[in-house]
Amino acid sequence: MAEPNIAQKAPFKVDVVAGKAYFWCACGQSKNQPFCDGSHKGSAFSPVKYDATEAKTVFFCGCKHTKGQPFCDGSHKTL
Ligand code: FES
Ligand code: FES
Repeated sequence: MAEPNIAQKAPFKVDVVAGKAYFWCACGQSKNQPFCDGSHKGSAFSPVKYDATEAKTVFFCGCKHTKGQPFCDGSHKTL
């Protein structure tokens, strides 16, 4: 399986807006981290959609190696 690019070895803290959809970059190539900017085209990766049901602070995975996409699960500490 293709390895994603490590955008950064730390999560991105984002205050999400209730009712808004977010597309997390899974490939690590986006210039608009942690979100997809279309750079994955032609690769084995696709973005992961997250629908925010309430306004809150979330931590999107920046290393792209989380087992709990799209959120940080601490896996960046092992990279
Ligand atoms: Fe990374 Fe789209 S740019 S998934
Ligand atoms: Fe990827 Fe934490 S930033 S698991």
